[in-house]
Amino acid sequence: MDKLPVDLESGDPRRGLASMARGLVGSEILKIAAEIRAKQAAGATICNLTVGDFSSKEFPIPKALLDGTVRALQAGETNYPPSDGVLKLREAVRDDFRTRLHIDVPVESVVIAGGSRPIIYAAYTALIEPGDVVVYPVPSWNNNHYVHLSGARGIAVPCSAEDGFLPTARLLEPHIKEARLLALCTPLNPAGTVLAPEEVKRIGEMLVAENKRREPLGQKPLYLLYDQVYWQITFGNAQHTTPVALVPECAPYVIFVDGISKAFASTGVRVGWGVGPRAVIGAMRDILGHVGAWAPRAEQVATAELLRDSGERQRYSAWLLDGLQARLNKLYNGFTAMAAAGLPVRAIAPQGAIYLSVQVSLIGKKGMLTNDAIRRYLLDEAGFGVVPFQAFGLQGETGWFRLSVGAVSEKEIEQALPRVEAALRRALE
Ligand SMILES: Cc1ncc(COP(=O)(O)O)c(C=O)c1O
Repeated sequence: MDKLPVDLESGDPRRGLASMARGLVGSEILKIAAEIRAKQAAGATICNLTVGDFSSKEFPIPKALLDGTVRALQAGETNYPPSDGVLKLREAVRDDFRTRLHIDVPVESVVIAGGSRPIIYAAYTALIEPGDVVVYPVPSWNNNHYVHLSGARGIAVPCSAEDGFLPTARLLEPHIKEARLLALCTPLNPAGTVLAPEEVKRIGEMLVAENKRREPLGQKPLYLLYDQVYWQITFGNAQHTTPVALVPECAPYVIFVDGISKAFASTGVRVGWGVGPRAVIGAMRDILGHVGAWAPRAEQVATAELLRDSGERQRYSAWLLDGLQARLNKLYNGFTAMAAAGLPVRAIAPQGAIYLSVQVSLIGKKGMLTNDAIRRYLLDEAGFGVVPFQAFGLQGETGWFRLSVGAVSEKEIEQALPRVEAALRRALE
């Protein structure tokens, strides 16, 4: 039978969408990445430091995770997982929190999802009524989008290069009185810096003091969403700490976001978890259940085995951190040398995660008036793909960029740095 042509569009194709969906902005980073892919397809050589992901050629997942997943699938772990996650994995996460983070929680405080994103979404949805205030520092990753999705009113608190783009309790304090949720991340995407223990402690104390103030007034609590997906990736003296370990009284108000995406370079395996007060975690489990945002069952089983395998973890972690640090140091040393040679750049020493903050001060040169113009110049003239801090909510043409190293080789970096230096010199001519 002949197929009849069907016209799926009529009039304004977006007129039927809910205003939330109409107002939703796609990922700026993925847009830049698509531009880079098009250039690469056309034959350009590009050192692609844009996407916060790993290349499986540079950083394959742990063999134990791969083998464990295949084994679990073959053993018939192929049906629905429990809505709060496979018990063995929840227990392994609980034990990990106890032994590595010094936080003792019951297994009912752990929920598993298909990566960390659904955990963040579920936490926002479980706590936020339309119009509620969410406070978050900028630059930070995607809070603006979760604020939009949940109908919250976002208060973005700008942080400075001098503080490593990290928030301080002093900066946050004036904004928390009206807030329902404070969303923090350390080690920080995009800056690659880590909150110092003293600051984490001050933030924990602030959380306790604010909730003590609210209790007699019958007001809803202030919660802290503590995104620590990069916590196993720190360098040198930088040390990951949590408000709960330092100020145990704040435990009823903290929801942790965590998972395997970054610590095990397993972004496509999709296993994440949330840990927090039981009532909040229970609500998150129900939300995640209706969305069906579970991690696949076989991956959960394999992740549980991996978390219990301390030898494999130690070996993999050491190798991953070595590889990331070598790349970050190459970039950091390269930009520091350029700065010493009088070029208008600076970089913040890497402390954690897979990122480096670099400032390229070319505003006013060759007609460049925006960070995006500098980004394009670096891409076109040096084959160097970076993301402006505006993609992380920090407004202003500051010249700051995020460089992400999980998808490039050391050689690509070595080859790109002279191209960047030459392009900078040309911009100043
Ligand atoms: C700070 C932060 N939190 C959460 C996520 C999401 O991780 P997942 O891939 O597990 O959803 C990312 C991913 O880039 C991230 O940078």
